[in-house]
Amino acid sequence: MKKTIVAIDGPAAAGKSTIAKRVAKKLGFTYVDTGAMYRAYTYYVLQHGIDPKDEKACVAVIPQVDIELKPNDIVLCNGEDVTKQIRANDVSRNVSFIASYKDIRLALVEAQRKLANNVSCVMDGRDIGTYVLPNADVKIYQVASVEARAERRYLENKDKGIPCTIEELKKDIDTRDYIDSNRDFAPLRKAEDAIYLDTSNMSIDEVVDKVLAIIEEKAGK
Ligand code: DC
Repeated sequence: MKKTIVAIDGPAAAGKSTIAKRVAKKLGFTYVDTGAMYRAYTYYVLQHGIDPKDEKACVAVIPQVDIELKPNDIVLCNGEDVTKQIRANDVSRNVSFIASYKDIRLALVEAQRKLANNVSCVMDGRDIGTYVLPNADVKIYQVASVEARAERRYLENKDKGIPCTIEELKKDIDTRDYIDSNRDFAPLRKAEDAIYLDTSNMSIDEVVDKVLAIIEEKAGK
């Protein structure tokens, strides 16, 4: 297959990373989890006692935050492995504030575009098809009902030993969707040329097969 860029966007906890990871593995593409970058930045801010709602203070530390995505989903922040820490509830609750700051987005988007240079990749996020890689060969907008998303995230967290309740998760997901969709710069929305995929009643394997079929059809062999 020629160099192919696949963009998967959609609201919080819609299963994008699970699907993106599996699709990338099947096709031998690089997987880029852009949400992990916003999470790592949020982790840095919280660790340094900066108020995530204080845009000026959060933006001021841009030169001090170096985020790297490594193979096997490893995320480094200034060389420290923060892969696990960035999934914690306090990071999830604050990441939408960080992701709404234009200067932080510009810095991370630049890094994301570099990661997509010269390789076939599957990149997931909120603004990949609309802003980061508008010329992506394939664009998917993956959604699921709030109930399905909270249920999935609950099982994931349980697996990882992260305590939570479904009600709490629903509230967090709703809040995050609201902030992500209503920010001024590069908000969450479906690109006009993205394929809308509602996965509420689909298994992981079904979604993977569907996405692979879409890629095959759009990008060819
Ligand atoms: O996909 P995720 O839950 O790990 O993303 C974490 C947050 O980062 C999410 O609330 C929105 C933000 N985000 C973003 O604004 N743009 C992206 N490309 C990826 C994530």
